[in-house]
Formats: sequence, structure tokens, C-alpha cells
Amino acid sequence: MNDLSLPFDTKYMPLAKLQEMHRRSLESPEEFWAEQARQLDWFKPWDKVLEWDPPFARWFVGGQLNASYICVDRHAKSWRRSKVAIYWEGESGDRNSRVLSYSTLYAELNRFAALLKKLGVSKGDRVALYMPMIPELPIFMLACARIGAIHTVVFSGFSAQALADRINDTQAKMLITADGGFRRGKVLPLKATADEAVASCPSIEHVIVVKRADNPVNMKDGRDIWLHEQLEPETHYVAPEPVESNHPLYILYTSGTTGKPKGIVHSTGGYMVHNYCSYKWVFNIKEESVYWCTADVGWVTGHSEIVYAPLAHGAAMVIYEGAPDYPDVDRWWQIIEKYGVSIFYTSPTAIRMLKGFGEKEADKHDLSSLELLGSVGEPISPEAWLWFYKYIGKERCPIVDTWWQTETGTIMISPAPGIVCAPLKAGSATFPLPGVDAEIIDEAGNPVPPETRGYLVLKKPWPGMMLGIHNNPDRYRSTYWERFPGKYLSGDYAVTDRDGYFWILGRADEVLKIAGHRLGIAELEDAAASHPSIAEAAVTGKADPVKGESIVVFALLKPEFTPSPQVRQDLIYHLRKVIGPIATPEAVYFTTKLPKTRSGKIMRRILKAVVENTPIGDISTLEDQTAVDEVIKSFQEQSAEQPGKPVSSTG
Ligand code: PRX
Repeated sequence: MNDLSLPFDTKYMPLAKLQEMHRRSLESPEEFWAEQARQLDWFKPWDKVLEWDPPFARWFVGGQLNASYICVDRHAKSWRRSKVAIYWEGESGDRNSRVLSYSTLYAELNRFAALLKKLGVSKGDRVALYMPMIPELPIFMLACARIGAIHTVVFSGFSAQALADRINDTQAKMLITADGGFRRGKVLPLKATADEAVASCPSIEHVIVVKRADNPVNMKDGRDIWLHEQLEPETHYVAPEPVESNHPLYILYTSGTTGKPKGIVHSTGGYMVHNYCSYKWVFNIKEESVYWCTADVGWVTGHSEIVYAPLAHGAAMVIYEGAPDYPDVDRWWQIIEKYGVSIFYTSPTAIRMLKGFGEKEADKHDLSSLELLGSVGEPISPEAWLWFYKYIGKERCPIVDTWWQTETGTIMISPAPGIVCAPLKAGSATFPLPGVDAEIIDEAGNPVPPETRGYLVLKKPWPGMMLGIHNNPDRYRSTYWERFPGKYLSGDYAVTDRDGYFWILGRADEVLKIAGHRLGIAELEDAAASHPSIAEAAVTGKADPVKGESIVVFALLKPEFTPSPQVRQDLIYHLRKVIGPIATPEAVYFTTKLPKTRSGKIMRRILKAVVENTPIGDISTLEDQTAVDEVIKSFQEQSAEQPGKPVSSTG
């Protein structure tokens, strides 16, 4: 690993400053975080920095603030009122791009908040959002925050059933959607999907619909409302509701090791403070920076790194509606040139995809505005890292490989050019940020020596951490805190090298990362098994050169069904319908046996070895060893029928 060191040493200061800050943050965390928290606007100061009743942390207890005030009001009241907050680029380009200054954002935020109030939403109510990447999405999130309502954004690629499950779990009283969104020139029929979902969601009183695509939709009298018909005048003011620091800002669902996604609940105070700090440390944001994060707002990266952190800093950012390769494969490079993007934050899947199109596409554009590049969501290989560094950053721009999770709320391990940029290594997230006490441990909970793989854990509470899992404190405790008492289990494998650099190796549990999107194996298997033809299904991830991993299903059919391309197609369609297009399998193999232990546990590592053509390993614990031959036979016979799918989305 040491061979990958890059010659940064001449350009960057020594690490002592970072190490000193890190040491201080762990020695006196409360003092450290209180100092950071004073950078934000509080309506009432906190009484206590931290209440740590393991595993529940409450930060800045008694303090009152409002996230929308921090993100918008304080800029709209300053010279930044005429500064651009959002350059919004529609998929089809100039014809419908929009530029929103902080004062425009302020006016819109107030109007949207007034509408929510008028429709009966109040503090503590849950509001679901199922929207394309248009400015109305962050504005509605902020409008919820303004009145103390709790938003739950559902990625627009999820199915009606996934949306309904999330609405029902939160008991949201309102859903906000659009008449459509554009993706590769096609209109996503979001309202139709929302209608299907809401049919089984009795808690929903109103559906607000944003007009985006001029797509015909059904409007249900008394329930559905067009946004543009109901908005208040531009001068309307809604006072920001002061909320206690631990009032939930949002609930965001993510996949785990059981079939049911978890509603991760984030606070207002701790979350805002931590995001504000990590954004500054990692991205070295400056007043003149033009920042672009390519994530969808529907994921945590979009929540923290498109909405809350950049706006809290008064940053100018680009938001792009569509896909990286539409209408042309140089679309993203064109956007960087058009807006003079200086900080470009994306995913390894996107980098691999763009690398596949070739650097000649990037060379068509002037990318000299770039100063810093970032990566998130999955491990980035040294090869992809070096391509990004060489051909996009032209060997000038540091790359921040940022490790974090929906649960952590913000970036935890990453280079920190905003403090001091350590010499980088291609593919390493470098060091934990201040306040982050990370360790790598073995099965017994003991720290492992360098160059030994282990579980990545966090040993101290941090302000951005989740408050818990919505309505499920037991699951919160058992998923993250029980296996190694007192330590937060991230679910990832990691290793440090001899210089102490962290290298994140991927999930240690049964969670897949498909194009950076997180999907639980159990969730996929349950969805597959709910199809009428399927008796049992087992899912494994297969290494994919672009998406990182792809989904492979091994399915046992019920006796009355016989394998056929049609049954396979039906199952694929069913998974898309139950979860969404991100759950589209790359391949489905029909088999007559699944490899199981004597206690009935499916040995998925055998399936993985078969599809990746690696050694099968020890099979002595299998109940029926002929299952392996059966699986190999299915794989060999059916592979030719399934040539693989193109990438459909990026994280
Ligand atoms: O496996 C790790 C991977 O993404 C997981 C978290 O997924 P999610 O909650 O969807 O949040 C993604 C965006 C923050 C982690 O457990 N992951 C995230 N960042 C990295 C990463 N793996 C390697 N390197 C990273 N930089």
C-alpha cells in the first residue's frame, strides 16, 4: 500500500496541526464541540453539551435553533443576499436552468413554509417527499425544518411499495411530489407512483404536486394540490420555529441486514454543528468556491452535502437534474466548465463510468476551475483514484475520499484540506477527522495491528450521530452497539497501513453497494420470494467493473413452474416493482438446490465464489454438498442467456 504514496509533500504542510487538533478533540470532546457549535446561530444556548446514556447521545441539550435560519436567513440578512445559492441545471440544458440567490431562496422558503402551515402541518409532523432533483426539493426540506416538521425524503427511484412502507412507518400526513422528473430524456411518472403508494397510506391528508414535466396526472379532489396554485405571495414571512437541539430534523431510510429498512433519525443541533464543521474541514470551502455534489438529494449525501452543510456555509452550488451521460457522455464536464465548478464531489461508480467514456471527453472542456475533487459511497480503487487525479484534477487537485454513512450523518474519515492536507494515498480515506475516535478490531473486540483487516468501529459519540431508529430503540441498540459493547459497529471492514492511514474495504455484513446505493440482501431475498413463482431465493453481490457490485439472484421455483426467460423477466420486473429500478438484478439463475448449512443458513459466500469464479473454499459444513454442483451447473448453463445490464444509475 505504501507504494501508492503521491508526491504531495512539497505542497502541503506537515500533519502536526491535524494530529494536534484530533488529539485535543478526543481529550476534551465537550469543550472541543462547544467551541465548534458557537459558530452557528442559536436562539437559546445549550445547558449541557452532551448527555451520553449509552447508546443514546443527546448533544447541546436545551439549546434552541432552526436549521432553515442557519441555512438561509442569516445569509439573506447579510451581503450574501445577492450571492448565488443554487445554480440549477435541468437535464435538457439552458432552456430550463434556474439561478437562485440567497434572497430568492429566502422568499421561496417562506412561501413554502406558509403553505405547509396553511395545510395544517405543524411542529413534529412528518412530511414525505418523493421528488426529482429540482430546487423545490431542498426548499421543501428547509420549509419543513422552518416550522419544526420532520421530513422524510424517499429517493425518486424507489417503487410505490417502498414509498408506501416509508410513509406508513413515519405516519406522514403530507406527501410532496411532482408531475414528473427527467432522467435520460424520459419522464419519470412520479405522481402516478405516488398515487399508487398513497392508496395504502391512510395517514396522508394532502399531496402537494410540483409542476415540472407537464406530464398529465390525476388530481384527487380535496387531497391533491398544485403547488403553483396555492403558494402565498412572495412577501410572506414565516418565523422560524426555535426547536430544541434534539428535535428530529429528518428521518431517512436505509437498508440493513433484515428485510425492513431502518428509519434513521437525525437531530437538529448536533447534526448541523457537525456537518458545518466537517464540510469546512474536508472541502476547504471558500466564499468564491463553486461546489457541485452529484448525489441525489434522496440519499444522505444529498441531505448533508447538498442541502444542510453547503447552505449553512452560504456556499454557491450546482444542482443537476439528470444523468451523467445524457444527452452526451461529456455532460458533466460541460457543466463543470459552464459554472466554473471548483469543488466536485461524486461517487466511485460515476468516476468508473466517466473513465469508461475516456479522458478525451473531459479534454473537450476547460476544467481549470477545479481545485478539489471528492469521492463517497463505496471504496475507490487506486486505479480509478489515479485516473480522477490525473485526468480530471490534472495532478493539481487533492482528492478527498470521504468515508461516512447515513447513520453517522456526516463525514467521519477523510483528508482534511480545510485543516491541513495530509499526503494522499490513492484509495485511502487517510485519517479520522477531529472528534472521530475510530478503531479497527477483531472478532474478539481487540484492536488489530496495521495491515490486518478488521471491523471499523467508533468509540465515542459524535454530534452528527443518529438519535436512533424511528420507533425502534431495540433495533438501534442491537444493530450497532451490542456486538462490541460501548463501540459503534459501522458494518464495514477496514485496515490501516504502517503509516496509520485508513483503507475502507467494503461491507462486512449482508448489505450490498450497487452503484453506491445501499441494499440489504435480506430485503432483496424477501422481495424475490414474494413473487408467486418463487419457492426460495438467495442473493449475492458480484464484483462489477462500473457499479462496484451487481445483484445476482439464485432462485428455486415452486414445483408448478418451469424455468424460462419469461419467468426470469417476471421476477426481474417484480423486484423493480417491489423495491425500485435500483434493485434490478444483473442475472437470475434458476436452481434446484441452494447451498445451506445443517442449521439451514444459506452459504452465500459459495454463490459469490461461483459467480466470481474464485475458489469455493471449505464446504464441510454444508448439509448437502451436491448443492454446489447444482449451483455451478445452473450458472454455467444459464450465463449465456444473460449478457448483463448497462449501468442505470449512479450514487
Ligand atoms: O460501506 C460503506 C460505504 O457506504 C456505506 C454507507 O452507505 P450509506 O449509508 O448509503 O451512505 C453513503 C454515503 C455516505 C458505508 O458503510 N462507503 C461510504 N463512503 C465510503 C464507503 N466505502 C468506502 N469508501 C468510502 N469513502
